[in-house]
Amino acid sequence: MSCIHLEAAALGLETAFTVDASRVTFGRGSLREVGARARSHGGSRVALFTDTRVRKLPIFETVSASLRAAGVDVVVFDEVRVEPTDASFETAIRFATDARADVYVSLGGGSVIDTCKAANLYATHPAELLAYVNAPVGLARPVPGPLRPHVACPTTSGTGSEVTGIAIFDLLALGAKTGIAHAALRPTEAVIDADCTQFLPREVVAASGFDVLCHALESFTARPFTARAAPASANARPLSQGRNPWSDVGCRAALALLGRFFLRAADSAADREAREQVMWAATLAGIAFGNAGVHVPHAMSYAVAGLVTEYVPPGYAAAEPMVPHGMAVVLNAPAVFRLTADTSPDRHLEAAALLGVDARGALPSDAGEILSVEIARLMRALHMPNGVSGVGYSEDDVDALVAGTLPQARLLANAPRELGPDELSLLFRSALTYW
Ligand SMILES: [Fe+2]
Repeated sequence: MSCIHLEAAALGLETAFTVDASRVTFGRGSLREVGARARSHGGSRVALFTDTRVRKLPIFETVSASLRAAGVDVVVFDEVRVEPTDASFETAIRFATDARADVYVSLGGGSVIDTCKAANLYATHPAELLAYVNAPVGLARPVPGPLRPHVACPTTSGTGSEVTGIAIFDLLALGAKTGIAHAALRPTEAVIDADCTQFLPREVVAASGFDVLCHALESFTARPFTARAAPASANARPLSQGRNPWSDVGCRAALALLGRFFLRAADSAADREAREQVMWAATLAGIAFGNAGVHVPHAMSYAVAGLVTEYVPPGYAAAEPMVPHGMAVVLNAPAVFRLTADTSPDRHLEAAALLGVDARGALPSDAGEILSVEIARLMRALHMPNGVSGVGYSEDDVDALVAGTLPQARLLANAPRELGPDELSLLFRSALTYW
């Protein structure tokens, strides 16, 4: 081991990985702790971020009452846009700048938590929006210091945003998604209460569960951290540092939980055990991908979601065409894992086995097919569209989809093999239909 590391160091490759995680409180009823937690960070004025749907639910009153009981002032921002844009981020930043809060609380899905991260960042360290945005779209300027404390409370079991330093948004002028990725954006605390999931329609549990599945599969098969160039300084190690022994622990556990509970959780809001276990899987996969990084299915998803013109998903209160994040990701997954399997057939087979496939006796050359067939089986069982053609794309759109994917340099660099326009074009063609 040490010899390998000496060799890696001599080649200028990475020899270490960093584990970052938010403080996590997980369990039913934990939303009642939010007020005391916000107060414990020394705050007396809380900016509470949510959206108009969540604001009408009993869980919003639970959090509000908890904050009132803790004796803090609360200012509410409920204008978060589902699938945020640069314009909706700017609105939230203006609110946060005026609010002068000393603690942030977010209650909602990934859109709410991501918007709260951005508002906290730019209210604390003012700059032009593109200053901290990932290159090549933005300037990727490092965040200059810590943000205000942020207590993040997810209401969907999917994005893992409550434990990652990533905030994603649509840059309208580009017609594609981009984001900000920096450890400083990671919420100080995550309070994860499975009671929230009883309000989720089955379509939302399905799409967000596929996001969890892809976080685990992509982090588990990402480029190993030892294959990356060593950072120029200790503080320059990227969040997408590649798969590592820590992320493997969370990925394996999340895949096994999804294998047991995903279909049950999507089937019935009354199945409390399954919904809670999928939320735990989302937490574990979120911690894993926050320390490893996802790769190609996510990179492709930003083009799939960003260029949609007509698809309106069932079960979502969408006023305009959109592809939910988890759906946009999984539509690419069977094609991608067929292509990446030869970089680590053992891992692709192990992932399938963790999901419940009997892969005993399978050859390494079968790994991609076995994993892809299992993902497609789950997609059919949960009524996902049949590939990207199911959300309105055809052969004619492949060039635009490839062009929308290429700017995702951070994610493509985390893939286990080099991918250029030709490979992405092949991937989108094979992702058009699966059955
Ligand atoms: Fe995701």
